[in-house]
Amino acid sequence: MKQRNSLLLPLAGIGLGGWALSRLIRHLRLGAAQGYFEGKVVVITGASRGIGRALAHAFAAQGANLVLAARNERQLLDVAAECEAITPSIRALVVPTDVTVEAQLENLVNTALERLGRIDILVNNAGIIQGGEFVALGRESVRKQVEVNLLAVMRLTQLALPAMLSQGEGHIVNMASAAGRHTVPYFVTYGTTKHGLIGFSEGLRRELAGTGVRVLSVNPGFTESDVVAAIRDTLRRMGFKILSPEYVARRTLEAIILQQPEVNIGLLETVGGWGSALFPRITDLFWRIVPPPDFAEKAAQQRTE
Ligand SMILES: NC(=O)c1ccc[n+]([C@@H]2O[C@H](COP(=O)([O-])OP(=O)(O)OC[C@H]3O[C@@H](n4cnc5c(N)ncnc54)[C@H](OP(=O)(O)O)[C@@H]3O)[C@@H](O)[C@H]2O)c1
Repeated sequence: MKQRNSLLLPLAGIGLGGWALSRLIRHLRLGAAQGYFEGKVVVITGASRGIGRALAHAFAAQGANLVLAARNERQLLDVAAECEAITPSIRALVVPTDVTVEAQLENLVNTALERLGRIDILVNNAGIIQGGEFVALGRESVRKQVEVNLLAVMRLTQLALPAMLSQGEGHIVNMASAAGRHTVPYFVTYGTTKHGLIGFSEGLRRELAGTGVRVLSVNPGFTESDVVAAIRDTLRRMGFKILSPEYVARRTLEAIILQQPEVNIGLLETVGGWGSALFPRITDLFWRIVPPPDFAEKAAQQRTE
């Protein structure tokens, strides 16, 4: 017993030292990459609000030129003006786009290439969530969530990739979710699309190795936006911390610089992802015991279109 205790301290020291060293290296690498985004062309879908808007602000602050896409042109124009106010030397183009319409996806890529000459970073961020009992959700809701969250991402990536491959460099950034590692009940379809998106990122990353085009999957936990509006208080009562879109945006930019394949954001959700893979029975039990009785009802109110 005494011998075990005497080993514990040096092991803890090595662990802590390793962690501190990795933080220092991360800090130095980020410091050395100052100016990384300057002049780069970044296409962001779902840029009209929430995480997409925060990403646009963060890229603008780093001097990137932006192509902002979503359906709501009025909101996109506001975001473009905010970005140009952050860094007046950048260009922020607005391209109203419904990501479920093929011709509009083609127009988005063509406009970026014609007006700005290249696409350095494609952020597939547009997404919707529609909660409720799976059995009652209906065909249309399932189809739409799969179409926006998964099929549109795959198609837009196909359209943007040739330019990146001929440039010999580029980043595909897919805004997945912690729900892509751990599906929450009553959000089964949403979680399924995000599992698909992580799988897509993983396979494409391996397929593109050596081409100079990198693929990053961003998996945030619950983040302040319309996506959590109806369940925010319930989640807080269950112990979840709601992240800010600005924090998610910062971690995304850092992950691009550090060429990470995947970034998991939010402690409880990240642990939940590992738990779901390693201890499925325990995580199943969590969802039977922890949510309040009105969880299903609240989930059904959680709907973005
Ligand atoms: N908030 C969270 O807790 C959380 C956590 C993990 C991952 N995420 C993911 O993060 C991404 C952004 O979500 P958010 O939280 O910022 O939600 P949000 O505030 O609801 O923003 C969603 C964005 O997607 C756009 N969009 C929706 N349908 C579209 C379509 N058919 N065509 C083009 N754009 C469309 C919306 O713009 P228009 O309505 O103007 O088209 C909006 O800009 C999503 O992929 C979401 O799944 C969110």
